This record gives sequence, C-alpha cells and structure tokens, in this order.
Amino acid sequence: MKMKEMINEVNRLRKEKNAVILAHNYQIPEVQDIADYVGDSLGLSKKASQTNADIIIFCGVHFMAESAKILSPNKKVLLPVLDAGCPMADMIDAEQLRFFKKEHPDIPVVCYVNSSAEVKAESDICCTSSNAVKIVKSLESDKVLFVPDQNLGNYISKQLPEKDIICWEGFCITHHRVRHEEVDMIRKHRGTAKILIHPEANSQVVEKADFVGSTSQIIDYVNNSEEKEFVIGTEMGILHTLRKQNPHKKFYLLSPGLVCYNMKKTGLEDIYRALRDEKHEIEVDVEIMNLARRSLERMLNIS
Ligand code: 13P
Ligand code: SF4
Repeated sequence: MKMKEMINEVNRLRKEKNAVILAHNYQIPEVQDIADYVGDSLGLSKKASQTNADIIIFCGVHFMAESAKILSPNKKVLLPVLDAGCPMADMIDAEQLRFFKKEHPDIPVVCYVNSSAEVKAESDICCTSSNAVKIVKSLESDKVLFVPDQNLGNYISKQLPEKDIICWEGFCITHHRVRHEEVDMIRKHRGTAKILIHPEANSQVVEKADFVGSTSQIIDYVNNSEEKEFVIGTEMGILHTLRKQNPHKKFYLLSPGLVCYNMKKTGLEDIYRALRDEKHEIEVDVEIMNLARRSLERMLNIS
C-alpha cells in the first residue's frame, strides 16, 4: 500500500472505530504527524485519562501504553509494536522493589512513570520528569525512596536539598551516555545557543544546562523564547516538533548518541495494522491495575 493510501485508511478506520492516536515526542515524524495528540509522559497520561475514544493507539513504549490502560481500564489500548520497551523501566521489578523497601522501611516510594504496572502498584505515588520535584516536595516525609532513575532522583535531590532521596541505580541508556565534555565542546562552538537538557542525563551534564525539563517543557521553553539557537539534550525525535513550530530557529543535537531505538520501532504501517486488526492489546492484572492506578491518580491530583 502506498503511503498516501495508508494515511487515508488510518483516517477512515480511526473515525469508524472511534479511536484516538497518541504519540510521544520521540516518535518518528510520520507517526507524530498522524497522531491526534503528541506530548510528554504527563500530557499523554492526562489525554489517556480524559479521552472519549473506544480505542487508544499508543505510539510510544510499553510503560506508556500500560499507564494509558491503567487510567482507562475500559478502553482498548493498543501498542502498535509490542516489543517497544524502555530498558530503564526494566531495571527494577516488583520483587526488587519489595526488597528495597524492606532495606529502608517506612519510607514513601516515588516511582518514575518509566516503570512497570507492578512497580507502580508497589509505590506510593508516581511522577514524570515534568512534575517530579513538585511530587517529592508534596510529601511530608523528609526521606524518599526513588525508583528507577538515579539521574532524575539526583536532579530532584539538588532541587530539594532538605529531602534525603535514596535512589535505585537505574538509568536511561540513551540519556546517561551523554558526557559532560560534550556540553563543554558544544558550548565552545555554539557560543550563544541555549542548552536545554532532559533530567535523565547524568548530573555532571545536567548542571551545565541553561534549562532542565521534560520533553514538552523543552518545547514550551523554545516556543516562548526570544533566542534563536538551541542545543537539544534529549532524544532526537523532539527535533521534528521543534522545527515545525519554530521554522526560523536553529537546533543542534547535544550528542549523536541521543537516539532511543525503542521509540523508533513504530511506523505508519504498524499503526495501520494495529488499528485494522485491533491487535497488540495491553492487558494488566486487575488487582495490580487498581493499585497502580492509585499511584498514578495521586500524581495527577497533585499536578
Ligand atoms: P518525558 O516525560 O519528558 O516525555 O520523558 C519520557 C522519556 O522516556 C524520556 O526519556
Ligand atoms: Fe526509556 Fe530512555 Fe527510551 Fe525514554 S529515552 S523510553 S527512558 S530508554
């Protein structure tokens, strides 16, 4: 099937089946362009909890589609490529978290949304990169267990020195490998460009940023800035929206390694097939789902 024909079919099917297509900011351009909504993890969770659609086609990675299912249990949530996962989310499972809690009893657990439903179910509250500081600040306890991202945990800790944050040692394989020397080098060559970095990068990198934020916060920063040049310290998929919304501004990727292969697995044809055959449905055990929903809803109530 030709591209144009496939786009028409997706449009016909989404109308006929009352489906909505949600896509993360890291998806490939064709996928972002066909989506009803493109956003960061928080924005996507909110959309999933509010939509009237019967089917959600989730273009992102597994934990994101799973969160959509947890927040909309009566809807059919389809992940076009079932093995699109997040290696960081896989760095902790429920059993490891139970052990971590046993080692540090009576301390609330905050889990980054990049985690499985089972880990969310074992946690007190969830957070995303856009609201992590706010969520941890809202807790009465001065000690917090944070899973699975040590880099986001360290970033929160710098923002809230009054809190003792004990981090699980997980990390994003895409952001963690950026080196602080790369920031120095690009600062030297791109003098006046603003450097915008995701908090999943390591602390030596993050502390050299002009702005730190989630993917949508980085987009908002650029859209509201008078500056003309920006260095982008997050996954390269975000460049599509940045360039589309800011055709007269210039963007440079901080490091060539900023590619998440899992986010690149989904193509138009996968969306078309998932929608046509209603396949790759996300299913979560009801008990786990109810516990995990509590963590996600607590987060949504605060943000
Ligand atoms: P955002 O919530 O900033 O979109 O981040 C999701 C993610 O997986 C970043 O690697
Ligand atoms: Fe996971 Fe990193 Fe990919 Fe985000 S960029 S989905 S944290 S591996």
